[in-house]
Amino acid sequence: MRRPVRIAPSILSADFGALAADVQRAAAAGADWIHVDVMDGHFVPNITIGPAVTRAVRQATDLPVDVHLMIEAPERYIGAFAQAGADWITVHQETCPHLHRVVQGIREAGARPGVALNPSTPVETLREAVAWVDLVLVMTVNPGFGGQSFIPRSVDKLRRLKRLLGEEGRDGEVEIQVDGGIDPSTAPAVVAAGANVLVAGSALFGATDPLGEAMARLRDAAAGAGRTRA
Ligand code: DX5
Ligand code: ZN
Repeated sequence: MRRPVRIAPSILSADFGALAADVQRAAAAGADWIHVDVMDGHFVPNITIGPAVTRAVRQATDLPVDVHLMIEAPERYIGAFAQAGADWITVHQETCPHLHRVVQGIREAGARPGVALNPSTPVETLREAVAWVDLVLVMTVNPGFGGQSFIPRSVDKLRRLKRLLGEEGRDGEVEIQVDGGIDPSTAPAVVAAGANVLVAGSALFGATDPLGEAMARLRDAAAGAGRTRA
């Protein structure tokens, strides 16, 4: 089943000194969700933002706020991010030995749960969890920084995830998100392989053309993949 492709600009590449304005520029350019990258300096080398800035993003837009927690022991912060206005909270499989409990905690906090996989983590580790989550994020770079190169093997990984979702009766019910190195050159392959939520940071906020044009180029590339497969 093919779902509409959604574009989630990552504010990691936005101007943090003018964050609300950049969120609103992204919304005006046709963003579907706003992606918020939270890093703790432990699970990933970088440190970014927390609930206070997430609340500022929430106040700047009505779009769904999609929080990607690249932090250890994420259960400690789920309540804070939900209260800050997160609609989606995605945790990394690698940080959650008790993923079922964490996912329940996200739902109880009023957000929708997602689970992310690092490039080296096999999709098979989610065979049980796909019954509980609303989104699987396939990292297409190693998490930690914007502007990295897309890892080509991710395309086959997406196909394997799609197959696993089908086997577990969840195809079409779980959002398939990709994050890292997504631009007009990589979008067609990931969409053809099953991704329907495209996170993009540097390809949108870092583009030399205006944000609206960069967004349109990404959307056209993604739609082209759908057309050629239809
Ligand atoms: C990377 C983050 C991404 C990042 C993507 O760890 O999770 O969301 O902002 O940036 P680009 O699109 O520049 O690869
Ligand atoms: Zn992210």
